[in-house]
Amino acid sequence: MRNFLVTDIVRDYAVGHGSWQPDEIVDDLHARTAALGDPAGMQIGDDEGQLLTMLARLVGARRAVEVGTFTGYSSLCIARGLVDGGTLLCCDVSEEWTAIGREAWDRAGVGSRIDLRIAPALETLRALPDDPEIDLVFIDADKPNYPAYWDELVPRVRPGGLLLADNVLWSGEVADESASGANVEALREFNDKVAADERVEAVVLTAFDGLTIARKLG
Ligand SMILES: C[S@@+](CC[C@H](N)C(=O)[O-])C[C@H]1O[C@@H](n2cnc3c(N)ncnc32)[C@H](O)[C@@H]1O
Repeated sequence: MRNFLVTDIVRDYAVGHGSWQPDEIVDDLHARTAALGDPAGMQIGDDEGQLLTMLARLVGARRAVEVGTFTGYSSLCIARGLVDGGTLLCCDVSEEWTAIGREAWDRAGVGSRIDLRIAPALETLRALPDDPEIDLVFIDADKPNYPAYWDELVPRVRPGGLLLADNVLWSGEVADESASGANVEALREFNDKVAADERVEAVVLTAFDGLTIARKLG
């Protein structure tokens, strides 16, 4: 996972003092993901996973959407925080990586709550009903499309619902004027867009790799 400032020792300590600890299913999923090599760095950490479960519970999430599923860890954390009967729509383009997630979801007993769509996420999102019925969104896919994901999702989130976006500080590079590149520039555009959006109130956490938490107003 990308992050800055927090050492592994401090993060492990923090995770160890949360209410939910990684279980055997999570440990196995981390191990299978680590075996993929470099792509494993895309997986969120256990500290952020604990927060996703907590936020899903706080908003009483019945309908959640994840953009960027990879091997299914963040989705497992969200699914575990859904109310009974709640569902999570997962968007990804990789059959190979999400197949690992499916196994973990089934082992954890949340597989039936998760609707995985293998397609470019923008196609999946644009096909959703226009009604504002989503309680929780987690955006963690290709950074250049973050502004477009935002445009599709904000109208579909209910008042009081949450939109979360990961990696918005990109190891701090977004605030470094000498840094450039497609991801940095897309994230700057995204962060400016969220800050100017009067439909939400938002904070940017300097935890993990930067996490935006935006609450839909209305
Ligand atoms: C950072 S990883 C997601 C990590 C995941 N949330 C976790 O914590 O384990 C990004 C994922 O986005 C997916 N992705 C990239 N471009 C996409 C697109 N246009 N539509 C849907 N998924 C996409 C990749 O296949 C990858 O699995």
